[in-house]
Amino acid sequence: MNDAVVTPWEVKGKLDYAKLIKEFGTKEVDDALLERIKKDFGELHPFLSRKIFFSHRDLDWLLDKYEKGEKFYIYTGRGPSAEVHLGHLIPWIFAKYLQDHTGAEFYFQYTDDEKFLVKGTENLDFYTNMAYENLLDVLALGIDINKLHVFVDTKDIGRMYKLALNVSKHVTYSTVKAVFGINDSDNIGKIFYTSLQSVLAFLPSVEKGNNIPCLIPCGIDQDPHFRLTRDVAPKLGFYKPAIIHNKLMPGLTGDSKMSSSDLDSVIYTTDNDKTINKKIMNAFTGGKSTVSEQRKEGANPYICPIFYMYSYLFEPLDDKLNEREQNCKNGNLLCGECKAELSSRVIKYLKNHRENREKAKKYVEKIKNNA
Ligand code: TYM
Repeated sequence: MNDAVVTPWEVKGKLDYAKLIKEFGTKEVDDALLERIKKDFGELHPFLSRKIFFSHRDLDWLLDKYEKGEKFYIYTGRGPSAEVHLGHLIPWIFAKYLQDHTGAEFYFQYTDDEKFLVKGTENLDFYTNMAYENLLDVLALGIDINKLHVFVDTKDIGRMYKLALNVSKHVTYSTVKAVFGINDSDNIGKIFYTSLQSVLAFLPSVEKGNNIPCLIPCGIDQDPHFRLTRDVAPKLGFYKPAIIHNKLMPGLTGDSKMSSSDLDSVIYTTDNDKTINKKIMNAFTGGKSTVSEQRKEGANPYICPIFYMYSYLFEPLDDKLNEREQNCKNGNLLCGECKAELSSRVIKYLKNHRENREKAKKYVEKIKNNA
């Protein structure tokens, strides 16, 4: 039995992604779909060829529309509870790939309300300010700002509320209870919140006056929200949003998801070099307890967060990744060496990322002052 839990507010247990496709009723991103994406968008992102984006809803429908010349827009978001970590970058790097290859408009939602209601350890202003801090990370990835539409829930609620109400009228309490595991002692804000996450799947259609297909790249943990969104869509006369789901980058402690709820498991984009190195060198691995054992029997890359970090973000070349996998399994590569190399790659990547964050500060100040 699989006792894994995957909701937007809790991920625990060992994740079996093939099983999740079945349980959630989504479709696998299979080779035929990959061929089509390659044809339509010009090239495959490594996240696709490596099946990090592994599951979808109605992406084939969206491609039908796209192939007939109908434009779609991209929608994704962030619950600004803390600094951004490396796992969060996965859907946003992918959104940039989509934007670069299709010229799509990009809607980005910061759910300061959600994090206030769900985490609730800080005051509301903390989460609102964190939204602007987190926006720097999206901009640092080189998103085209001329096609970016930023929403911070508590600031932009005037533009969103009517639609949130319309959504909420079609979602029952018993559905929210079943989907999110809400119980009698939870605050009532949590019950309404999912209506807010639905809004940007429809708002561009309302504002432009005609239905526009929407593609949501996001981690599989967000799918429960969008199941509700998709159920409501036809009742309000909208297209159901298409979704493409990514796997979750494992935490450095061996957890199934890198998450701020375990500080040792995360690398934040704002961590300094010393902290990054320390966290990586202390990470859990798939290695053996002694060097001689590892030389003889090899290690296990498939349970190793260090190997997954290479595979998700830090080894662009497939040949090199395969070589690392083999050398890990046959005992030629020891964990210390593998970690040290990763540490220098992450430090280099985040140095560049932080420089880009600095450059984005002027733009974020402008958005903040206009809010
Ligand atoms: P949040 O802030 O928890 O996560 C932001 C995005 O990052 C993904 N993610 C990960 N991906 C890979 N590896 C990980 N370890 C990892 N951890 C998180 C999440 O799946 C998500 O895509 N409720 C949302 C905010 C939101 C949103 C949206 C997300 C509002 N509208 C539309 C996606 C699409 C949240 O709290 O995300």
